[in-house]
Amino acid sequence: MDRASGASQAPSRPEDHVVVLFGATGDLARRKLLPGLFHLAKAGLLPRRYRIVGSAPAAEALSDEQFRAHAREAVAEFGRSRPEGPAWQEFEAALSFGSADTDATGPLVEAVREAERAIGGAPRRLFHLAVPPVAFASVVALLGATGLAQGARVIVEKPFGTDLASARALNAAVHAVFDESRVFRIDHFLGKEAVDNILALRFANGLFEPLWNREHISHVQIDVPEKIDIQGRARFFEGTGTFRDMVVTHLFQLLGFVAMEPPVALEAQSLRDEQVKVFRSMRPLDPAQAVRGQYTGYRGEPGVDPASDTETFVALRVDIDNWRWAGVPFHLRSGKALAEGRHVVTLGLREPVLAMFPLDAREAADGRANELVIDFDDPGSITARFLAKEPGPTMQLAEAELTFNYHTSFTTENALEAYEHLILLAMLGDQSLFTRSDGIERLWEVSAPLLDAPPPVVPYAPGSWGPETIDSVAAPYRWHLPDRGLPCAR
Ligand code: BG6
Repeated sequence: MDRASGASQAPSRPEDHVVVLFGATGDLARRKLLPGLFHLAKAGLLPRRYRIVGSAPAAEALSDEQFRAHAREAVAEFGRSRPEGPAWQEFEAALSFGSADTDATGPLVEAVREAERAIGGAPRRLFHLAVPPVAFASVVALLGATGLAQGARVIVEKPFGTDLASARALNAAVHAVFDESRVFRIDHFLGKEAVDNILALRFANGLFEPLWNREHISHVQIDVPEKIDIQGRARFFEGTGTFRDMVVTHLFQLLGFVAMEPPVALEAQSLRDEQVKVFRSMRPLDPAQAVRGQYTGYRGEPGVDPASDTETFVALRVDIDNWRWAGVPFHLRSGKALAEGRHVVTLGLREPVLAMFPLDAREAADGRANELVIDFDDPGSITARFLAKEPGPTMQLAEAELTFNYHTSFTTENALEAYEHLILLAMLGDQSLFTRSDGIERLWEVSAPLLDAPPPVVPYAPGSWGPETIDSVAAPYRWHLPDRGLPCAR
């Protein structure tokens, strides 16, 4: 599957499908998956003939009618368009429900057969495992035992393991039933428009790619602060923490795209080969180059251990030992209850060789005036910051910027949300934006030193930018966020 081939044509439409949603009564299905599937249907991107079978353990079973009502409420609350009119009626008619437990798979098997009969021919099956990680292996085994897995594809939600041993065990359980070409491990950050745009920016422009290496770039930052706290997810968060929840998943995946070598072609194998090469070049994390934080008040949240050592914040340095990036630090930061919610990748450019203009030494080391800032809040923007001469009789320099903004440059009505984009790609059988087993295992491998010897958590005030000690992680540079206003004359 080559995503470049369809560039100027209408988007491809998947072959006929039965989609089975495990965890159909859960939070993810309600907030993202059911509204996302309806949006794809409205946009004409679902197959010509499709059925969606909701599933959950028998204890939470719904009738077909109850599942339709559940979907209607989900779309009304979280969807982009109202669940009404002919488009909704058509979508609703494609929904049914079949419960499944390891020892009672009959209702699901029957619901899938019924959906296949309604479609006719030999539709493809896609199973979406929107279930807690502890249930992954048993659902996969159930799909194998019933024969439902035959020829089917499977979407697996994050987190994929909690360390190298558990990720290996999970990969083995999945591979016992589905070969890797049929496994789609979701990381919703990879479905964001701006991630594809990193590829466009780098590989479609002579303007940027020549700069994209250690000769010209002094440091890179991947910064995803969140304003929200744990929002009552104590049970999940206590056993996970920000490093596993955000860094090993989302931030490392972004790093793979920012740092990769040019792929042979814009297709899954080449892209994933290059991404995994980056992970293989990553130096094992150094706990001395990491700060773990915990916001004040976290230990008082219902369900949190009053002596909890779980981090709600992490900042760390990553080194990539390859020819392109040797010596260029990558600084990563993410945390809950911070001052702002942002998604920002910053590439700091080196100063020119000859200091022709007098610059304050500290500012020069900071390099803020020479940077490329990719903001991937959906749909996002790209800003180049540089120095320009201020009009006037003297050679006075000031910071200036050029900004590309999706909203003002393009119509964004065809944009898909991350989940919509990824579900569509899975139906098309395109694995470009899904993680591969060897990549996941390598990320847990480089994470081991930090997981084995985590530095103690440092408290920080909610609404701040995290513990002050994080400045040492970025030194001699500074964190790009919070942004500094313009202009800033020298
Ligand atoms: C999820 C994490 O995967 O991503 C959450 O479990 C986090 O803790 C969320 O808040 C952030 O996603 P986004 O797209 O809102 O930045």
